[in-house]
Amino acid sequence: MQLIDTHVHINFDVFQPDLEAVRWRWQQAGVVHLVHSCVEPTEFSSIQTLARRFPEVSFAVGLHPLDAEKWHHGMAWEIELLARSDAKVVAIGETGLDFYKADNYEQQIMAFESQLAIATALDLPVIVHCRNAAVQTRQLLQKWKNLKENLRGVMHCWGGTPEEVQGFVDLDFYISFSGTVTFKNAKSIQESAMVVRSDRLLIETDCPFLAPVPKRGQKRNEPAYVRYVAEQLARLRGESIEAIAAVTTENARQLFGLAL
Ligand code: NI
Repeated sequence: MQLIDTHVHINFDVFQPDLEAVRWRWQQAGVVHLVHSCVEPTEFSSIQTLARRFPEVSFAVGLHPLDAEKWHHGMAWEIELLARSDAKVVAIGETGLDFYKADNYEQQIMAFESQLAIATALDLPVIVHCRNAAVQTRQLLQKWKNLKENLRGVMHCWGGTPEEVQGFVDLDFYISFSGTVTFKNAKSIQESAMVVRSDRLLIETDCPFLAPVPKRGQKRNEPAYVRYVAEQLARLRGESIEAIAAVTTENARQLFGLAL
């Protein structure tokens, strides 16, 4: 059984002391590939170093909506240049809108639209973070889909409703589930996990955040635990974990153009 963790942050300090052991555990768990996300372009060299060290890591470059106050016009150029500079860059992001923790709407929208422009210009998918902003995110993606047919991407760490899922799947976006789908009180996320079309389903850890049950409460989540996300999807959808692994691995391969 092969799994792909489509959203990790293993460049964070919390992983550095024992990263080889962490890798051994993801290998034991059947994780054959990881897509490393990026919260700001200054991380590029640390992530690139990991992608050179571990052949199974490819990565994104972008600016997170909660860092949108750092956006400036030069950054668009910088992100585009960095993305062009390494063949292991497979996505732009993470970008998107977060109106839960911040209210700098205009800056977030500017950073988001600029990154949608870069992604379509480079023909790369976008990794979208969306919190308390489904309507606005959907509108902007629709606008860009009308402009650029090659716009594609993933709603990462899905936290919305089943109705919102449909809106993004209608735009051909993938929906990625994280450890939150294992949380007991996450009924709406679980309902979402039941309705996503198989060919649009992805899994991730978003590690080091959001460790899934039964590891919830551990300070650090890690890629090996993507297996618990796959197990929960299997339970919710009445499928085998092998079937979930096969379909999500194929979807990740397709979206990010991975040669596996
Ligand atoms: Ni992330």
